[in-house]
Amino acid sequence: MIVIDAVTKRYPDGTTAVDRLTLEIPDRSITVLVGPSGCGKTTTLRMINRMVDPSGGRILLDGHDIRERPVNALRRSMGYVIQHAGLFPHRTVIENIATVPRLLGWDRSRARARGLELMERVGLDTALAKRYPYQLSGGQQQRVGVARALAADPPVLLMDEPFSAVDPIVRKGLQDELLRIQADLGKTVVFVTHDIDEAIKLGDMVAVLREGGRLAQYAPPAELLSAPADEFVEDFLGADRGIRHLSFFGTEGLELTAEPIVAEDATTEQVRAHTIPQTPYVLVTDTEGRPRGWTHAADRAAGLPTELLPYGHAFTYGQDSLRAALDSAVLSPTGWAVAVDAEGRAIGVAAQETIAAAIRGAHATVGPRDSVRGVLA
Ligand SMILES: Nc1ncnc2c1ncn2[C@@H]1O[C@H](COP(=O)(O)OP(=O)(O)O)[C@@H](O)[C@H]1O
Ligand SMILES: [Mg+2]
Repeated sequence: MIVIDAVTKRYPDGTTAVDRLTLEIPDRSITVLVGPSGCGKTTTLRMINRMVDPSGGRILLDGHDIRERPVNALRRSMGYVIQHAGLFPHRTVIENIATVPRLLGWDRSRARARGLELMERVGLDTALAKRYPYQLSGGQQQRVGVARALAADPPVLLMDEPFSAVDPIVRKGLQDELLRIQADLGKTVVFVTHDIDEAIKLGDMVAVLREGGRLAQYAPPAELLSAPADEFVEDFLGADRGIRHLSFFGTEGLELTAEPIVAEDATTEQVRAHTIPQTPYVLVTDTEGRPRGWTHAADRAAGLPTELLPYGHAFTYGQDSLRAALDSAVLSPTGWAVAVDAEGRAIGVAAQETIAAAIRGAHATVGPRDSVRGVLA
């Protein structure tokens, strides 16, 4: 565990960058520091690996003041990733990744093998190993930056706005990759961002900082969304707080009905048998069971020509969140959401009212601390 204990940083010009910050950063989880520009996030991160010295307070790593450790040993136990990756421009990808292992005296072939293994782990084609950083996209460079930070398998990973400079689609890929890597490796990650959505998606714990380096709230993301500590946190979280909170509630247990589902080759009798009073529509699937669209049940049963209405999008039952289920009901012209299994086969449908009842139930029974990490829709 990393303990930041009443730490203050005043720069020589009198700027107070961090003001009596106290945080307990748990092992093997992702702790995010988030806040507006200039609120002391980078300064805090750089105090953890002693690139910046605190003016007051102390930082403990596994119970020991970090000032007791030789600074080189401390830094090698902490991978560091920054915006724009900060790669060495005159070294190839594989040389960049193998930097710390080589410093630690690994021989060339072992360092190279480790580099190739890490390229795969961060989702990079090993064919890129001999390229130079300028021959890579921004997203690929960030992946190299993450691989380099992981090279000597440090227990701690410090990441300073690592994904801020890439476009939203690439950023989403990098975030998903980080969550995947973290599920495998279980590092103690301290992640800095100014993007609250990124903080909510990635963080097991989120520290919201405000100007002057003061802590506004430290909580799991679901709790931030359901109970912001003050107006500053509420403003910083932005709009749709309630809807976003639904990402933390699963769809397992949501009541579905499979009744109004028919295959595209269903007979008129079958369509009639699958018509329910709650909706004039039936969901038509292909012969594999994948949803195709809604159609008017009575017209279909009467053998009249009918058209297929789009169903919006389906949600994967038990895997997607109530946010995804609600979104799929809102987008559906019939007001009913379509649930599919992992293979994309329709297993049932749910009315908006059913989803609303599930949302009320989730709020009533699941405290935010018990909820799981959000499956962001
Ligand atoms: N070396 C420095 N000398 C003086 N002031 C600094 C220095 N580095 C950062 N600051 C100031 O400290 C405050 C916090 O900076 P920083 O930690 O970089 O914030 P953030 O990463 O949250 O944007 C800002 O007001 C910044 O201008
Ligand atoms: Mg910064």
